[in-house]
Amino acid sequence: MHTRPDTILIFDFGGQYCHLIGRRIRDNNVYSEIVPHDMSLKKIKDLKERLNIKGIILSGGPSSVYKKGSPKMNKEIFELSIPILGICYGHQLIAYSMAGKVEPAKKKEYGISFATIKKAVNLLKGLKKKEKVWMSHGDTVFSLPSDFEIMAYSTSCPVAAFRHKQKPIYGVQWHPEVTHTENGETILRNFIFGICQSEPNWNVGNLIKKYIAEIKETVANNKVIIALSGGIDSSTATVLASKTLGKNLTAVFVDNGLIRENEAEQIRKTFNKFNINFISVNARDKFLKKLKGVIDPEEKRKIIGKEFIRVFEDVAKKIKANYLLQGTIYPDRIESGYSKKSDKIKTHHNVAGLPTKIKFKGIVEPLENLYKDEVRKLARQLGLPNEIVYRQPFPGPGLAVRIIGEITEEKLKLLRKADKIVTEEIEKSGLGNNLWQYFAILTDTKTTGVKGDARSYGYTVAIRIIESREAMTANFAKIPYNILENISTRITNEIPQVVRVVYDITNKPPSTIEWE
Ligand code: XMP
Repeated sequence: MHTRPDTILIFDFGGQYCHLIGRRIRDNNVYSEIVPHDMSLKKIKDLKERLNIKGIILSGGPSSVYKKGSPKMNKEIFELSIPILGICYGHQLIAYSMAGKVEPAKKKEYGISFATIKKAVNLLKGLKKKEKVWMSHGDTVFSLPSDFEIMAYSTSCPVAAFRHKQKPIYGVQWHPEVTHTENGETILRNFIFGICQSEPNWNVGNLIKKYIAEIKETVANNKVIIALSGGIDSSTATVLASKTLGKNLTAVFVDNGLIRENEAEQIRKTFNKFNINFISVNARDKFLKKLKGVIDPEEKRKIIGKEFIRVFEDVAKKIKANYLLQGTIYPDRIESGYSKKSDKIKTHHNVAGLPTKIKFKGIVEPLENLYKDEVRKLARQLGLPNEIVYRQPFPGPGLAVRIIGEITEEKLKLLRKADKIVTEEIEKSGLGNNLWQYFAILTDTKTTGVKGDARSYGYTVAIRIIESREAMTANFAKIPYNILENISTRITNEIPQVVRVVYDITNKPPSTIEWE
């Protein structure tokens, strides 16, 4: 890796897309690091020893700048002569700090909007007169002092983009990092290359050596276990760690009863090919007993997270391991409310679901700063097989978050069958490669149907098929009707308890990918 990579710092004001900004920048081979919004000048200067800071982005966030106690940055950053770009809350915060007028919008905007570009220069270079942008805000900048210039506006947003007339300070109300903004990529590239003059000198493949050294430094000669689910994240962490830990590493696969058809067998087969200690634990009864009667999704996740850890602790005790390795990645952390100022969306089982009294000396998460597609690149470099590199993500709590309401053996069996049909039909259609995920959900809605001339009353199965780049945002896939029809016909024919199949046509946001 370049010794001091050109870097864009992102001040985290708690926006759900904060890490997406970081992702988009790294996509351009420029390193980005997320830092607390109130980072001191001293700390910024310390960072300069290892990072060549070329620009600062102030992220979005859920607060209102004029509210008491809302997050603010150190105003001295404006004197650093480093280019600064404010996005959404960051845009409002710059305006507010410079005595501009920020108030609740006359009409809140969530979703697609159109901005009129007054001047397609520097930050907005290459943009059309009317741009399709993605907005998500309740407040608006209404005016700015005379040393600022308005660069874009929309019907409900008089200052949708601005720049300072002398200093390299910019703001945009919309989200260039979200793919729904048509030319968002151009705006970010204008900032990192045009304005900040960064060089594309960072590459995820070069991180392998660094990560291996860090794992070794943390765990030394201790025995380590890793929670291996067979997904891309934990598999990559396993292979990465095995490079330095060898037989001191044991991969533990837990069959919690919430996995898909044939999953345990497939994972065993795949990892038998690697020279890695592998243990599979059958803990089905334990998990299902604890989940009996539980309907609240957050409670389900917590129970599963806790049971996972208990199982690992037992194995660790037996093999005398005192470190736990996990394949946690960036989105897992942000969506579990890792950032102080962000709203918690879901407790990912391997993050906030951990019990407070952990019996391990430490937990190591080597991929915690990477996004899914960066992990994929790393996996390819490590020589992982395609069946893992391109395996679709599967949530840690498994089918528990795809069964709405109480989990029972009967519902699990039913959902496994439906899920298998979705997988088979999508794979047969050849569409699978371009999809992020495709799966079935068992809803808790029972409806009336007619089968074989008789009234039937049974379950509704929902189908979720998603296109995405990194799971922070996603679109439902526009699957041809005949394929959806095949899925629906097969499910209702092959699973007598199901009388209705529906297709989920919601994007993320406002929905999440999983139903719970
Ligand atoms: P959501 O539903 O939050 O999902 O839009 C984003 C991505 O993460 C997966 N997911 C999880 N992965 N533990 C995990 O390891 C979890 O608790 C979890 N919940 C969701 C989901 O399948 C999607 O790819």
